[in-house]
Amino acid sequence: MTTSKVKPKKDAAKSLEDLFEDCLKDALWAENAVKDALPKMVKNATSKNLKSALEDHLKETKEHVKILKSVFKSIDVKAEEEKCDAMQGILDEGEDILASTEPGPVRDAGIIAACQKVEHYEIASYGTMSSYAKILGHKEAKKFIDEILKQEKNADKILSDLAKSEINIEADKEEK
Ligand SMILES: [Fe+2]
Ligand SMILES: [Fe+2]
Repeated sequence: MTTSKVKPKKDAAKSLEDLFEDCLKDALWAENAVKDALPKMVKNATSKNLKSALEDHLKETKEHVKILKSVFKSIDVKAEEEKCDAMQGILDEGEDILASTEPGPVRDAGIIAACQKVEHYEIASYGTMSSYAKILGHKEAKKFIDEILKQEKNADKILSDLAKSEINIEADKEEK
């Protein structure tokens, strides 16, 4: 890869407001992609607790799509999606992990790892959007974004707790 100064595309963001809108479009695409990917994770999970944690977060994810649309509305911008290559990559890896693990505790551990990568990406994205909304004075948008951010952090914590209290321990008992 050569190091050079990158020439901006025609529709490149000129302001923080533009950048904020780009992030929102990216997030809307990502939430819809997660919404479509989660049922397969539920189906492939064995642990009842993991299945229900994923189902709960699927419900929240469907809400996130709606809340994001309200964010667009609150700033008078048409809700649009823009493909998020990063989320696509994280979800592709999640698919790979299913085929790369035996069903049971080991696959469950893999599912948790994959889903936590999704949550961490979302936490980073909404954290950024929250600070943009703050500086741009979009109070209502910030409130909505913080609501989503709280649920992403909570989902991440639930997965961590499940891994530590149950799944990783069970996975470690599988034959070596
Ligand atoms: Fe989400
Ligand atoms: Fe999430």
